[in-house]
Amino acid sequence: MKADLEGFIEEALLEVSNASDLKRLQDLKVRYLGKKGELTQLLKTLGSLPETERPAAGKRINDAKVQIDTAIQKAADRLKEVEKIQTIESRRIDVTLPGFFVPPGHQHPINTILEEICDIFASLGFRIEEGPEVEDDYHNFEALNIPKEHPARDMQDTFYVEGGLVLRTHTSPVQIRVMERQPPPIRIIAPGKVYRCDSDQTHTPMFHQVEGLLVDRRVSMAELKGTLEAFVHAMFGPEIPIRLRPSFFPFTEPSAEIDMGCVICRGKGCSACKRTGWIEILGAGMVNPRVFEFCGYDPGEFSGFAFGLGVERVAMLKYGIDDLRLFFENDVRFLEQF
Ligand code: DAH
Repeated sequence: MKADLEGFIEEALLEVSNASDLKRLQDLKVRYLGKKGELTQLLKTLGSLPETERPAAGKRINDAKVQIDTAIQKAADRLKEVEKIQTIESRRIDVTLPGFFVPPGHQHPINTILEEICDIFASLGFRIEEGPEVEDDYHNFEALNIPKEHPARDMQDTFYVEGGLVLRTHTSPVQIRVMERQPPPIRIIAPGKVYRCDSDQTHTPMFHQVEGLLVDRRVSMAELKGTLEAFVHAMFGPEIPIRLRPSFFPFTEPSAEIDMGCVICRGKGCSACKRTGWIEILGAGMVNPRVFEFCGYDPGEFSGFAFGLGVERVAMLKYGIDDLRLFFENDVRFLEQF
């Protein structure tokens, strides 16, 4: 029996150490130590031994049980540890891999310039006003002294909307809406989107303007020039000169085109300024008395000046951009540069 038991233990320990997973180990435990297991069977044979040998044989079988049980326990611990490591390995995250960069957005250059323009005029005491982008014919044309059939309507390629409405072709109608609402004095700017049926390198169907209007007693053209000069100096630098060139707008009389010294060649003459040294930057003039009459103001008592500024034009000059469409294609490689 002794030799049998030694061989049995040896075989059991070998099987246990060869078990490659916990399931197999559990099967071995049932096979050797379970109620119907081999050692239990062996214990049952003790009765057939001579009485003197029984205690020693029983002890050997019980020791074998403990020995095998301990071996199974150790093997289980080892396999559990291996499984844990495998799980960790399979879920391993390489913390040294570069992360995904989510680029932060920022303000569109047109809005940046628009804010800058508003800040400059706010510092000169102008208040910000707004008006509708879908406008009626009266405010967009009539009240600005642009009657139906008047050739001046051809100056602006209009998008017509059903019901006699238009997409406003300029911000000038805000002048009318403000004057209808309140008596002088007035000192406002009206920034916003305007629309024209036009599209090429220097025209987009939607663009931005800033309208200006100042009305009070005895307002002169000198104040118009001083205000716009202050704006150009704040925006482009105090060394940039401006000049007024006679022009025509139905809603101002006299009217002027305002030029500033070319910011690219500093007045020497280049392709941007068509070799003149000057670049046209806005339209302006003294408010036409007919416009005052439409709004119920007495042209004998009040005078004023108005101006209209293209925001994209200012942005192009400020940033040295030669194609207007870049602003609206939303190519991040372009936008990122601001
Ligand atoms: N509304 C004109 C345009 O879009 C710009 C303009 C010119 C506005 C002269 C004015 C002004 O207020 O006085 O072409």
